[in-house]
Amino acid sequence: MTVGIIGGGTMGSGIAQVAATAGCMVNLYDTNQMSLDKAKASLEKILNRLIEKGRIDTNEKTRIQNNINYVGSLKELSDSNLAIEAIIENLDIKQKVFSELENYVSEECIIASNTSSLSIASIAASLKNPKRCVGIHFFNPAPLMKLVEVIPAIQTSYEVLEKTIDTVTSWKKTVAVTKDTPGFIVNRVARPFYGEALRIYEEGIADFETIDHSLKTLGGFRMGPFELMDFIGNDINYTVTETVFKAFYFDSRYKPSFTQKRFLEAGYLGRKSGVGYYEYDENSKRVISKEIKTPQNRGLSQQIFDRVLVMLINEAADALFLNIASAEDIDTAMTKGVNYPKGLLAWADEKGINWCVDNMDNLYNEYHEDRYRCSPLLRKMNRENKTFF
Ligand code: NAI
Repeated sequence: MTVGIIGGGTMGSGIAQVAATAGCMVNLYDTNQMSLDKAKASLEKILNRLIEKGRIDTNEKTRIQNNINYVGSLKELSDSNLAIEAIIENLDIKQKVFSELENYVSEECIIASNTSSLSIASIAASLKNPKRCVGIHFFNPAPLMKLVEVIPAIQTSYEVLEKTIDTVTSWKKTVAVTKDTPGFIVNRVARPFYGEALRIYEEGIADFETIDHSLKTLGGFRMGPFELMDFIGNDINYTVTETVFKAFYFDSRYKPSFTQKRFLEAGYLGRKSGVGYYEYDENSKRVISKEIKTPQNRGLSQQIFDRVLVMLINEAADALFLNIASAEDIDTAMTKGVNYPKGLLAWADEKGINWCVDNMDNLYNEYHEDRYRCSPLLRKMNRENKTFF
């Protein structure tokens, strides 16, 4: 199979590695020669590291490298069976590239986008044959993250969807099929992890460290929300939140936070700028200037964890309620796409659906804000004494 990849930046170069490792011939195209040089050099480094760790041998390295051609014109993608676009997140530019590409490739070629925030329908609309368009959303770093969200647009044919799922699965990825709605699964369901943590901080309930500590120790999350926002970068994380908020017609559930906006405006982006919610040294390692405070008050920790968890569960339940994806795929997406310790719907079963409803209703009674509305699905399941699995 021949795969064309458009855009050789962070995502495109990672996807090229995945496809080449799986035995596909890859043509990686970028308008910027520097991006291609960087992609090539970075692959060399990654493969050398894999050799050092004993995961691959030099033959395997050569095989993977020989599977990738770095090309400077879109025409050179003409023999693709599948083309995946991973260029700048701009609809006009993506549409232009898609309609030009369609002139070069065969009728059978599937044309996919790795977009995080644009609708697949709007990208597909630039093609003469929009049925061949689909969303294939990888996570960063693409070679390491197991999850790939596959997003059929309303125009996508069933055959194209099936072929896409088969191809991505053959690349040893776990597929979660999701509706073409803002944030797909992961970037929608994960919003409260950041948003509710920021809100708890803004209310003065606890500081960054205490909130992170609660989620890590009581929830088993690998990183707390503030550590994770610093890792992702407050610029990127804030933009995703703002994009999702706008795309949902300003639903208060997804409202961005002033705290994060100020951090972004101040240039406190996190690890990459040396300062975020925490401070970092030149190697992006966290500087521990004072002893880490562990919260003395176990009740406070539990209250913080319960509040963030129930908001996450509510979001996952609402995604299921609105048929964004199956219960299995929603849970897989969160464990494989963002390494959550458990699937949120399985977690809801464990806590009890009545626990979820009571906690949402308590928040709503306290604040009377729409953001705390309980998903109708949880309420119905509670009445009918049902569980997700
Ligand atoms: P990037 O900035 O690292 O790479 C983009 C590359 O596209 C650059 O090398 C640039 O030279 C090239 N490019 C720009 N316009 C082009 C054109 N017209 N034709 C050919 N090449 C062109 O960006 P990144 O992070 O790789 O993102 C790419 C896409 O993937 C975006 O749609 C983004 O939303 C999505 N995405 C990003 C994730 C991330 O964590 N960075 C995760 C999942 C999706």
